[in-house]
Amino acid sequence: MSVVVLGSINMDLVAVAPRFPRPGETLRGRRFFTAPGGKGANQAVAAARLGVPTRMIGRVGNDVFGPALRQGLAEAGVEISGVMMDPEASSGTALIVLEESGQNAIVVIPGANGRVGEAELARLEEALAEARVLLLQLEVPLEVVAAAAERAARAGVTVILNPAPAMELPEEIYRWCTWLTPNEVEAEGLVGFPLRDANAIEEAARTLVGRGCRHVVITLGERGCVYADEKGTRWVPAYRVPVVDTVAAGDAFNGALAAALWEGRSVEEALRWASAAGALSVTKHGAQPSMPTREELLAFLARSTKDSGGIPHR
Ligand code: RIB
Repeated sequence: MSVVVLGSINMDLVAVAPRFPRPGETLRGRRFFTAPGGKGANQAVAAARLGVPTRMIGRVGNDVFGPALRQGLAEAGVEISGVMMDPEASSGTALIVLEESGQNAIVVIPGANGRVGEAELARLEEALAEARVLLLQLEVPLEVVAAAAERAARAGVTVILNPAPAMELPEEIYRWCTWLTPNEVEAEGLVGFPLRDANAIEEAARTLVGRGCRHVVITLGERGCVYADEKGTRWVPAYRVPVVDTVAAGDAFNGALAAALWEGRSVEEALRWASAAGALSVTKHGAQPSMPTREELLAFLARSTKDSGGIPHR
């Protein structure tokens, strides 16, 4: 049994700069690096690094990045027979400006990710026979995501939809999602009212549960997250860590959530794993390179109950 991820695979081209440039401005950056990324691939790497059997389904392009992206996934322990090379597309890329404060701004060019379709759904059908958790995001076509969620739910597989980047969702998708994990901006777009304060955030989480998702988590960065199910809402504090690079913190959260659920952990423990993985990921540069190993995660969790380095805070 495995975690299956159907989603995007990108090469991230990262410029580190003192601040974001203004429109029309040329700004001298501090350094440049490339790192494998893409929300789908990042989440697959996050789950695999935690020791959970993980399969990736997606597409890379016919360029210099394609083989490197496949190799990066394989080296992280992800099973990549479902990752095909599209001879007629370039690989997905993300142009990222990373402020020295750790904040980021991203432009994504979908490339091969935008051509994910029937071939990937056919691979998913095969994979579902031995899947326990399906992890989805929105960097591949929405109709494919919706079809994948429905097929997995009908097969009794736990479906986690991380609705990123923000977009409107079809009404029926909510009931196929066991878990929905938007960040604040995405949640605001989904519910259609501003998340101005704690009450509004809880109201948004309840609204999304009301649309048919069994578990909803709204992630709030350094303020932690809000969890809701039919019994009510609760706040889960974040871990305090030094921030270097916030790219893919949400992916670390989702990958670790999937891994914990795959292991049969309780909701409470799964949220603790997810929060800890998200926190650890911001302490390092790069999307996939920043995903913690199982040893790192367990050591961090053990430490955080004993000293102030990782005590959850509100
Ligand atoms: O979530 C972070 C990811 O978003 C980056 O790795 C980038 O590729 C974009 O897809």
